[in-house]
Amino acid sequence: MKIAVLGTGMVGQTIAGKLAELGHEVIMGTRDAEKAKSRKGTDAMGRPAVGDWLSMHPEIKLATLSEAAAAGEIIVNATSGFGTLDALGHAGSENLRNKVLIDIANPLDFSKGMPPTLWVCNTDSLGEQIQKAFPEAKVVKALNTMNAYLMVNPSLVPGDHSVFMSGNDAEAKKAVLGILASFGWKTENIIDLGDITTARGTEQMLPIWVRLMGVFGHPVFNFSIVKGTPAQR
Ligand SMILES: NC(=O)c1ccc[n+]([C@@H]2O[C@H](COP(=O)([O-])OP(=O)(O)OC[C@H]3O[C@@H](n4cnc5c(N)ncnc54)[C@H](OP(=O)(O)O)[C@@H]3O)[C@@H](O)[C@H]2O)c1
Repeated sequence: MKIAVLGTGMVGQTIAGKLAELGHEVIMGTRDAEKAKSRKGTDAMGRPAVGDWLSMHPEIKLATLSEAAAAGEIIVNATSGFGTLDALGHAGSENLRNKVLIDIANPLDFSKGMPPTLWVCNTDSLGEQIQKAFPEAKVVKALNTMNAYLMVNPSLVPGDHSVFMSGNDAEAKKAVLGILASFGWKTENIIDLGDITTARGTEQMLPIWVRLMGVFGHPVFNFSIVKGTPAQR
């Protein structure tokens, strides 16, 4: 399948790399392909900049946001939360029409330092804003509640733990479930929360996620939802 991954950061690289490993044709979208290719070296965490990363992944094409979105049968949004609506605007509503749009972005505001706050919450979410701005796209919010490496390799955390989906279109969620399963997620650990308004819930898990990372000192952990049996009345 042809899949467009919009965003060249840690999430974009991790998702694109895994999809390519699974045999998909992956086109990564960026605002400026030449600028992205010129990014070299490593970041503070020792991860390669996208220019070097692309040299290590010649099977992955780099294109503008609109070229990538036009080519993709499925689109993954891995852009920064603040940049998402702008990035999807550049991708073009005509290129998102009737396509599954997997939204991994979080509306985090780091402008006042750590911990970040949410710039949309409670009565709205970034997932809903995307769906509203691009009504013909089939937005499915997923994977935003964990570290990038865990998204494509759930076995990094032992045992059963959870991934959530929010979206209005049942067929789109079925397609996303298939992709999650191909990443190694057990179907019983994939929780369909309902329509896109439920993205409010998963985006609002980020404040506790950030605090947990502070306590553990690393990001290799996840939420695990454990269900009991409703008490007899
Ligand atoms: N890092 C994680 O483990 C993790 C986990 C869960 C969710 N997320 C969410 O996933 C998303 C990606 O995270 P990340 O850590 O990979 O990278 P990031 O630094 O948050 O952003 C990555 C990309 O956003 C694009 N971007 C930034 N500002 C933009 C703007 N104004 N207009 C258009 N595009 C813009 C950049 O594209 P260019 O190539 O054009 O520069 C960049 O490649 C974020 O929303 C983050 O909250 C991250």
